Amino acid sequence: MSAGALPGGPFFQYRGEELFVEDVRLADLARGHGTPLFVYSRAAMLSALAAYQRGFAGRKARIFYALKANSSLAILQVFARAGCGFDIVSGGELERVLAAGAKGSDIIFSGVGKTRAEMRRALDAGIHCFNVESEAELEVLSEVAAAMGTRAPVSLRVNPDVNPLTHPYISTGLKGNKFGIAHKEALRAYRRAAALPGLRVTGIDCHIGSQITQVSPYLDALDRVLDLVAAIESEGIALAHIDFGGGLGIVYNSEQPPAADVLWQRLLARLDARGYGDRQLMIEPGRSLVGNAGACVTEVLYLKPGEQKNFCIIDAAMNDLPRPAMYEAFHQIVPLRQGAGKPVTYDVVGPVCESGDWIGRDRKLAVQPGELLAVLSAGAYCMSMASNYNTRGRPAEVLVDGAQAHVIREREDAGDQMRKEKLLP
Ligand code: LLP
Repeated sequence: MSAGALPGGPFFQYRGEELFVEDVRLADLARGHGTPLFVYSRAAMLSALAAYQRGFAGRKARIFYALKANSSLAILQVFARAGCGFDIVSGGELERVLAAGAKGSDIIFSGVGKTRAEMRRALDAGIHCFNVESEAELEVLSEVAAAMGTRAPVSLRVNPDVNPLTHPYISTGLKGNKFGIAHKEALRAYRRAAALPGLRVTGIDCHIGSQITQVSPYLDALDRVLDLVAAIESEGIALAHIDFGGGLGIVYNSEQPPAADVLWQRLLARLDARGYGDRQLMIEPGRSLVGNAGACVTEVLYLKPGEQKNFCIIDAAMNDLPRPAMYEAFHQIVPLRQGAGKPVTYDVVGPVCESGDWIGRDRKLAVQPGELLAVLSAGAYCMSMASNYNTRGRPAEVLVDGAQAHVIREREDAGDQMRKEKLLP
């Protein structure tokens, strides 16, 4: 990111004093659709995807977008049309990707707690692969598939026990995490998988965490996984693919994650050196494809000066943007119109009745009530994690493509929220 550029630039940038997303003025979208409003840049998503595609040029590799990062249908369509497959973690996500036009063979299914019903539905849809996370799951999946007269394609998610050097809540590849099959038990689990009647072993996978900004944890995990590949194949169990999961970080503030093509240059060099460079590769990126492609536009409701803190109360809250409350995450907050006023330091907070409902702490802003702000890097793990706490409707979403803006989700109202509820007789 060059000095003065915003995360999400050049797709989010000031023209004169006003913030634009591609060729659309964000303030116009706020006026037309209300706030809080999620706005995405299609070009930013495709540009993030292109970095991976460059990295994999000339290789056998497939990108499965991890839609937990943002599962809005139109966003899935963008990635489906660009040739991506999808990494799902629930039956609900399966229905979403199918509704967005993906085929079963474009889908892999991760997660530690798949139900039998989810397994059956995924087998019916003919998914590409189940990423199995425990020996107990192997047994159940085999039983379900055998009862359906089929064999489930499986890859075992191994836990390489490397430190991804990220926030503890989003580390997944350490011994103490609930994810994956322990490295030292993996060989035994593969033997079992190969012996079960309802399974067909197709690959191996790992995912060590999220918002990873360094290359070294990936290289360590790669080495650990390749050691296992060698051990498993020496027993006559062939692994058609190797899946390295997702996890690449983005810029929220001053992070400097490697670009996807740079990361993959390093990993492919290691794969080549170890003789696995022509293997079918798969990855499951989420955040790095959408995170910097989205912003949440919000209106300043009140300024509330205090003895210890000044508060800037906005109309977006922890139910719309849960990451600060959950992980003390940082998102840049910028005005839609750069003003000349004198900046004041505020805690930027939402209307939800919780002290944890803050979006940014100690931010210098020159704003007045009625003015609009953008919370940046909000394309990943915001809308998909949004809730209805305090009976707040989830925001509308707009996808911008050049000078065009498409509403891809209408704002939820109280009626939408109460639709499935019943009064007592
Ligand atoms: N594959 C698996 C098996 C995963 O568990 C995840 C994310 C991904 C792929 C995609 O990882 P990504 O490329 O997005 O880092 N809500 C948290 C992040 C949770 C990530 C969970 N797993 C946050 O807002 O920071």
